[in-house]
Amino acid sequence: MVTEHAASDVVERAAEVLRGGGIVVLPTETVYGLAADAENPRAVARVYAIKGRPADHPLILHLAGGDLLPQWSANVRPYAQRLADALWPGPLTIVVPRSARVGDWVTGGQDCVALRVPDHPVALAVLEAFGGALAAPSANCFGRVSPTTVDHVRQELGELLDEHRDLFVDGGRSSVGVESTIVDCNGPAPVILRPGRVSAEQIAEACGVPVASTPPDPVRVPGSLNSHYAPHAAVDVVSLDNVPDETGEGVGFLALADVPTPAGAVRLSDPGTSTEYARALYAALREADSLRLDLVIAVPPGGDDALSAAIRDRLSRAAAVPR
Ligand code: TXA
Ligand code: MG
Repeated sequence: MVTEHAASDVVERAAEVLRGGGIVVLPTETVYGLAADAENPRAVARVYAIKGRPADHPLILHLAGGDLLPQWSANVRPYAQRLADALWPGPLTIVVPRSARVGDWVTGGQDCVALRVPDHPVALAVLEAFGGALAAPSANCFGRVSPTTVDHVRQELGELLDEHRDLFVDGGRSSVGVESTIVDCNGPAPVILRPGRVSAEQIAEACGVPVASTPPDPVRVPGSLNSHYAPHAAVDVVSLDNVPDETGEGVGFLALADVPTPAGAVRLSDPGTSTEYARALYAALREADSLRLDLVIAVPPGGDDALSAAIRDRLSRAAAVPR
């Protein structure tokens, strides 16, 4: 498998691979995606098969710019348009009524579609060169930890991709590190379906409408499963007051830098801020698996910023996996 550095001709090659129905491992600012032509049902079916993702879990369509929104959506509410205008490109996905151009094979048959313009120069260049929309879930096996480097994807999915038809694009380490904030814009007020770096305050301000606190309808959002983002090691989320002084063998520890490591535990990362924590989170969970640890003790950041909330969300889902 050829790994292309984000140089000169890689963008053109990626666009060619996509036009030929292949899959491109695409860097974005949140996490790496497994991208296919959204209008090619066979290519999209391969994405589902490689991830082992159930067919009724809809995918996000990635666009080169907000000006393309009318091609992929219909009857977009004015507040949703304002949201896209204010925060794209960026780690924000909006769920809006779909246009006739969006196939059932990306929405799992739902009448709405998730759309986003990623804020990554390589992703934008590939989207621009390709011209259409790219259906791209995170490039990991279903239910597992998302990738934030191209090597994560190569290690996890390398053998499932085809060296002649598909392409890995290296865009460096994802700068945000957790998935986009998803906002349902179908109703009279925006509803946050998945927390990310874009905050409720930013959304309300951009929309000019307060964010509704209605919990997401599980039929509409099959992806909001309680257990997800999980390494093979068990994850134990503990508060600052409950960090043990010492642990047995095979235990990893993840917390902000000012929290001391329990005796006997392996420090997986020591981020100084929630921004650094989000960037390091998935690599740390993967590191626990490479070290064959049995358990990760994680102290989530306690801040009231959007990234701290997103990290708490991901860690609690990683911890919720039945064992
Ligand atoms: O940051 C991201 O959003 C990354 C990068 C690659 O862009 N993508 C990502 O995709 O996280 P994925 O497939 O791993 O997660 C997509 C989420 C799922 O939870 C799914 O349920 C939700 O988006 N979703 C997609 N279409 C939807 C729809 N029509 N209605 C409600 N939720 C939808
Ligand atoms: Mg995912």
